Amino acid sequence: MILEAISKNFFLYLSNNKLLDRLAKRFGTSFGADKIVGGETFSQAIPLIKQLNHDGLQVTVDHLGEFVESEAESRKRCQEGVETIQAIAHHQLDSEMSLKLTSLGLDISKELVMENMERVLEEAAKYDITVTIDMEDSSRCEPTLEIYKALKEKHANLGTVIQSYLYRSNDYVDELQAYDPYLRLVKGAYKESGKVAFVDKQEVDANLKRLIEKNLLNGHYTAVGSHDDAMIDFTKKLVREHGISKDQFEFQMLYGMRNQTQSELVKEGYTVRVYLPYGEDWYGYFMRRLAERPANIAFAVKGMFKK
Ligand code: FDA
Repeated sequence: MILEAISKNFFLYLSNNKLLDRLAKRFGTSFGADKIVGGETFSQAIPLIKQLNHDGLQVTVDHLGEFVESEAESRKRCQEGVETIQAIAHHQLDSEMSLKLTSLGLDISKELVMENMERVLEEAAKYDITVTIDMEDSSRCEPTLEIYKALKEKHANLGTVIQSYLYRSNDYVDELQAYDPYLRLVKGAYKESGKVAFVDKQEVDANLKRLIEKNLLNGHYTAVGSHDDAMIDFTKKLVREHGISKDQFEFQMLYGMRNQTQSELVKEGYTVRVYLPYGEDWYGYFMRRLAERPANIAFAVKGMFKK
């Protein structure tokens, strides 16, 4: 337990290291990251998406990148998002898109991020592609939800994420109910203090179940973003008991994780969506995955030597 906590903190600390981030870009994903990252460009991810679709899995692609510091960079990210949407449509991929608001200028100004998001959403609406706003660390949660609400008034094709480790997550789900939200419900992946988030894993798990139940019973589309059998089994039992249709929810998992469980769920007739990240900025994402699960470290190290 103690070792697990040290390793988690260590990798979460590394995930914010800008020097290592720059070094990682030079070496590329071949150091084990390619097991969980779809490539450094969207073209590299296309064959993977086609294969996943062929296997009955739906996808949400995420162009990796966060903490953009200049307006020009945020506009570049926005343009890349628009091009990704066009490529999804052009290649007839069964894929949605996920993105982080810091990549579109959240830390610069609300006007900028709104303008960039409007562009992405207008393009996505042309092809009926849903866009989900990932949730970042707790300091960005409320600004993200404010933007989600403002955009959702105009754009039906928009989802976001709520993290069950936050004490306020129940309130957030309540506040969003008026917006007919498409919510991806997850446990949460950032390093948070006990002032804002549950420290005890059992409380995080119990709270995720409460959020899933609330959003589903209120009739809103729910994506259960978890690799945990306990969450998957809970959802299956809940929908069975309440006669909730398979059209009202889906399971989502990260690319490269629990592949067998993904295909079993597909065989059982559930919608399963794979979150497939790609892009040069894979470093922070990769480190957060290593922090989550010691087994992922062994997995990545094996990947380094298999080349
Ligand atoms: P958790 O890590 O709690 O593990 C519980 C149990 O599940 C383990 O003991 C094991 O039995 C099983 N398990 C977990 N991973 C496994 C694996 N790879 N192989 C085998 N068994 C495994 N976070 C965030 O803060 N903002 C966001 O926007 C998102 N977005 C997002 C999208 C999607 C599609 C997913 C799946 C997750 C996210 N997350 C996220 C990450 C999320 O918050 C969380 O950190 C991870 O999903 C890990 O939590 P789990 O519920 O998967 O299992």
